[in-house]
Amino acid sequence: MPNQLTYQTVPAQENHLEQIRNIGIDRFGYFHHTHETLFDPQTIAYCGIIDDKVVGYGICKVMSKQSFQNQYPKISDKNISSINNSSKIGVMASIAVIEKYCRQGIGNAIFTARITAVKELKADIIIIKVWETSAGIKLLSLLNNHGFERVATIPDYWKEESCKYSYVCPECGSPPCTCNAVLYIL
Ligand SMILES: CC(C)(COP(=O)(O)OP(=O)(O)OC[C@H]1O[C@@H](n2cnc3c(N)ncnc32)[C@H](O)[C@@H]1OP(=O)(O)O)[C@@H](O)C(=O)NCCC(=O)NCCS
Repeated sequence: MPNQLTYQTVPAQENHLEQIRNIGIDRFGYFHHTHETLFDPQTIAYCGIIDDKVVGYGICKVMSKQSFQNQYPKISDKNISSINNSSKIGVMASIAVIEKYCRQGIGNAIFTARITAVKELKADIIIIKVWETSAGIKLLSLLNNHGFERVATIPDYWKEESCKYSYVCPECGSPPCTCNAVLYIL
């Protein structure tokens, strides 16, 4: 039986940014956070660490409904009642783990740390917009295990963004990205 990995989940530090960026580019084809956006007061980021190496990361934030609606117009257009009825919204942004460290609980540890963080900041609901590929939703079991409910699908969610940032989606290749986003709410 393989040895259990020993990892820690810690708040991201400035010296982790480069490694986080590399993981994002490897797993999603892009990473457009900068030092300013990753370490702004609204953003909370966690890293999974093994022997001082960043092996995964997860980003989240808590924002007012107004900021959420300004920042996520495609989701706001869905007119979802639980969003409309909330004042503070926890948003789970990207999460990724280096492939060779996957399936050992690191993703779940980062996912759980993010939920705890936004709950501590008194978010009324937690929203996560997940990437749906032809192979399905990689986060599905984590979402189900933590009680998230699927509320909407938004086709071609990253189409304009993929063209703007010229990113090559690991699923559909050169821009435009035509993957769906699926919204889950807790
Ligand atoms: C999604 C992602 C972050 C999950 O990370 P991870 O570290 O593999 O997550 P976990 O190990 O906690 O859980 C994944 C699976 O491993 C299983 N697992 C957890 N600990 C385990 C262990 N010690 N031994 C064996 N399996 C284990 C979990 O039960 C889960 O299995 P399931 O999906 O069949 O239920 C990772 O696959 C990834 O980076 N994907 C690419 C980016 C991506 O798609 N991000 C999400 C966009 S919405």
